[in-house]
Amino acid sequence: MKMKIAVLPGDGIGPEIIAEGVKVLEAVAERFGHEVTFNEALVGAAAIDAVGNPYPDETHELCMNSDAVLFGAVGHPRFDKDPNAKVRPEQGLLAMRKQLGLYANLRPVETFDQLIDKSPLRPELIQGVDFMCVRELTGGLYFGRPQGRSEDGNTAYDTCVYSREEIERVVRVAYEYAMKRRKKLTVVDKANILATSRLWREVAQEIAPEFPEVKTEFLFVDNAAMRMIQWPKDFDVLVTENMFGDILTDEGSVLTGSMGLLPSASIGLHTSVFEPIHGSWPEAAGKQIANPLATILSVAMLFEYAFKLTDEGTCIRQAVKKSLDAGVCTPDLLGSDGKKFKTRDVGDWIVSQIKN
Ligand SMILES: NC(=O)c1ccc[n+]([C@@H]2O[C@H](COP(=O)([O-])OP(=O)(O)OC[C@H]3O[C@@H](n4cnc5c(N)ncnc54)[C@H](O)[C@@H]3O)[C@@H](O)[C@H]2O)c1
Repeated sequence: MKMKIAVLPGDGIGPEIIAEGVKVLEAVAERFGHEVTFNEALVGAAAIDAVGNPYPDETHELCMNSDAVLFGAVGHPRFDKDPNAKVRPEQGLLAMRKQLGLYANLRPVETFDQLIDKSPLRPELIQGVDFMCVRELTGGLYFGRPQGRSEDGNTAYDTCVYSREEIERVVRVAYEYAMKRRKKLTVVDKANILATSRLWREVAQEIAPEFPEVKTEFLFVDNAAMRMIQWPKDFDVLVTENMFGDILTDEGSVLTGSMGLLPSASIGLHTSVFEPIHGSWPEAAGKQIANPLATILSVAMLFEYAFKLTDEGTCIRQAVKKSLDAGVCTPDLLGSDGKKFKTRDVGDWIVSQIKN
């Protein structure tokens, strides 16, 4: 198969982890006889520095004309420390999501047996955790307008907006995944307080009868956050709005043992984007200590979701499991006694497994 992949490394650890993702993608393509073309483009702070725009038109054009996008992370302390910065790296991420119509972000949370002791939770609580969080990605507080400050600068406001159509399409995606999995859907909202959440609940209740085999439950987000720690194995598929999903999946990463382990796929109207859920971890940039597994597992999702190539995805997952079995890990996954591998060493080791 011919594949055109847009590569957007971004900022901080982005270039280091993406280099490993690209290596793995190339190795799998070679093994399974696919022809891949990579085209790199600017995003985030790197794009602001180069052309003054965190999501330049050329980057968008490249994404639109590619079969899939492999994305690293954006964000730089220079902007995080300046609340008055007019242009910010994260605006590039939001613009990409909006312009590509990426309304559903699929975030699988699975624990690895080899890493059970890395989680702060007791092993019996997390062994076998396997759920999928479907996060709405182009609406809610992150996009609602008006947003800003009063003239005197002493009051700030954000607006949370959701339309019936925006909720319906992402809830349907979640039901479809629930049908393919253990047929349970948890709709997470704050319907006791928020008008948008009440619309979410109403729409989900309307759609539920179309999927009679799926058991639907509704949870307030505060309760969901608690349940994720208390009984994480109870979840199968969760669906929720943008900000709740952002926060809950970071919590989910703690179950697995590291932020460096969770991949994601953003799907919608145009080209899909595959990216780790973590950020640009600027303190680690250039040190080769970032875990590349979230990115490498995002490449597995890229094969499975963008090209429907499941054997290729399985090949990557098996190589990742072998690396964990062999203790070929970055420092986040090792105790003080283990040998620490660099980001590129982990990538090289996984590539060698794929080639064998
Ligand atoms: N999708 C994105 O591009 C995205 C997402 C979140 C945050 N950000 C941006 O990233 C910057 C840093 O934000 P932050 O510190 O809140 O989040 P972060 O995810 O970058 O880092 C938080 C912590 O997670 C751990 N971590 C992250 N990536 C890891 C990896 N690959 N391997 C091992 N451990 C890892 C580290 O302990 C780190 O201190 C900010 O500018 C923020 O806006 C970008």
